[in-house]
Amino acid sequence: MHHPRVPYYSIFLAILFLLPCPSTLAADADGGGADQTQPPSRAFLNPRIQQAYIALQAWKSAILSDPTNITGNWHGPNVCSYGGVFCSASPSDPSLTVVAGIDLNHADIAGYLPTELGLLTDLALLHLNSNRFCGSVPLTFRSLTFLHELDLSNNRFAGRFPEAVLSLPYLKYLDLRYNEFEGPIPDKLFDRPLDAIFLNHNRFRLGIPDSLGNSPASVVVLANNQLGGGLPGSAPRRLHGQPIAADPSAAAELVCPSPVEAVAADPKVVLGIGGVYLYHRRLLHQNRGTLLGT
Ligand SMILES: *[C@@H]1O[C@H](CO)[C@@H](O)[C@H](O)[C@H]1NC(C)=O
Repeated sequence: MHHPRVPYYSIFLAILFLLPCPSTLAADADGGGADQTQPPSRAFLNPRIQQAYIALQAWKSAILSDPTNITGNWHGPNVCSYGGVFCSASPSDPSLTVVAGIDLNHADIAGYLPTELGLLTDLALLHLNSNRFCGSVPLTFRSLTFLHELDLSNNRFAGRFPEAVLSLPYLKYLDLRYNEFEGPIPDKLFDRPLDAIFLNHNRFRLGIPDSLGNSPASVVVLANNQLGGGLPGSAPRRLHGQPIAADPSAAAELVCPSPVEAVAADPKVVLGIGGVYLYHRRLLHQNRGTLLGT
């Protein structure tokens, strides 16, 4: 007896399929990537900016496609002039300029988030809406302790709920909608002091945690997942005197107040189920994949 030989290419394919994110393969293959040699420390405004440089160069190496060329000027020590990068005075030390925000919304970038992004410890805003980022959210995001807003919506992130966000003390706005996150929604999410939670259009499963009623959020949208079942016992049952549908399949019967009514009544917690969203100060309608309003 002899064993059949396994062709090399099938091994290569197997490796391909094991990788969580295809762009980890050959980012920077076109040579348009990160700085090869780091400038000397004295070239940087301060050590925090130098850390940010390391993070942003690592990120540039993890970008496979940047059709709007927003990262085209991500070279050299002055990270505050990089496209989409915003600096301001550090809240803890106003004499120190730090990277406070990154806004790459609608840049259509393909790539992934490298662990080095955890070096951006002064970041307050990270907006990556409508790109092609894939893979998972690194655990090092736990270090982004000043993060207030995290918008990863409309990308290709996958894997389980990004646990790192649960330990961010100032996070108010968490937007993960339109990705491929899967597995359970962690109980702890609704115990966090978040004001807006968007998890719709993912692959979350295994029900809505009982902790939902603990959430101080003014908007929670869970629609278009595979959560099944009804609302947990802790969830509010009525809005404007109308019962909230407990069965997602009954969404068509859900009564949706007009925006004026919603503002006047100031509902505390708002739920989106099966495509109809009620909200606090804003009204979000979900219709055939189109988001209207903000
Ligand atoms: C991208 O931007 C950089 C710097 O702004 C510029 O030098 C480069 O030519 C641009 N590339 C393309 C393809 O437009």
